[in-house]
Amino acid sequence: MNLVELNRVAEAMVAPGRGILAADESSNTIKKRFDAIGVESTADNRRDYRELLFRSSEAMSKYISGVILYDETIRQNGKDGTPLVKLISDAGSIPGIKVDKGTKPLPFCPGEVITEGLDGLRERLVEYRGLGARFAKWRAVIDIGPGIPSYTAIKANAHALARYAALCQEEDIVPIVEPEVLMDGDHDIDRCYTVSEWVLKATFEELYYNRVALEGMVLKPNMAVAGKKCPQRASVEEVADKTVRLLRACVPAAVPGIAFLSGGQSDEEATAHLDAMNKIGGLPWKLTFSYGRALQAAPQKAWSGKTENVAAAQRAFAHRARMNGLAALGQWKADLEKKAA
Ligand code: 13P
Repeated sequence: MNLVELNRVAEAMVAPGRGILAADESSNTIKKRFDAIGVESTADNRRDYRELLFRSSEAMSKYISGVILYDETIRQNGKDGTPLVKLISDAGSIPGIKVDKGTKPLPFCPGEVITEGLDGLRERLVEYRGLGARFAKWRAVIDIGPGIPSYTAIKANAHALARYAALCQEEDIVPIVEPEVLMDGDHDIDRCYTVSEWVLKATFEELYYNRVALEGMVLKPNMAVAGKKCPQRASVEEVADKTVRLLRACVPAAVPGIAFLSGGQSDEEATAHLDAMNKIGGLPWKLTFSYGRALQAAPQKAWSGKTENVAAAQRAFAHRARMNGLAALGQWKADLEKKAA
């Protein structure tokens, strides 16, 4: 393991004013996104769509530090034959790869899942490094509901995350460690806080036991938010205050940066929350974004599968990338959104 190199890449992933584009939707997920805009999910359409993002030169060179790819995408070439990985690195951004194989039901734990993909991972990482990946991602999923999460689910998922992270570092690939507590339920923000605290404590314990170097990783957590179906909505300030308190209590200062998932928040909420946290200031790690939906919903809608809409889609992507880049510095303002509209 080359910790100097791992730390250099991790720091670059969370460089000031920049964050990560999560473009690693599995075939099932991208089909759902394409269904919503009336586009057939073929390999060519997936390539065309992702190519338009990676060719958004302003967004990519100024605001996007890294891109998480899916197995299909890391092997694809653009229309003119240029590897998509090369488009990303030529723009000054770092290619990364999702390496988990999704979730399966966890035995004897109704309603809970375990992320799979450890078998053969060492060999897959060697191949992905050869294809240009310098970081990887593994997502663990914890749901909140009556009687869940269980200790079993938290422990099993934290262990898998740590085994994955150690294998990545062995191969000089920076692991993004993503323990996602879902915001699907009707729980309030305080329940989200309590569960997220348990999940983060368990995750860092397992990272320690698996000898993962914290200086060479990036954490990708959820924010402390109320569930989507909870009638009591939390204000932007409450989300920012509670999320910062949560992370201070759980994330060692040796971690270079924390890049949030958007998890179903609206585009503007995801930006406003990140901005409010960075306005608090005085934090031991960088706080930035690793958004999928909150960066891509607008360009997907603008594109809708039509070549004549590519420029409009790139403008929509550049706008969200810039807004989140400003939020990563605590310099976003709501009226910047209105002016663009
Ligand atoms: P969202 O920002 O859409 O939650 O996606 C981020 C991600 O990579 C989830 O694994």
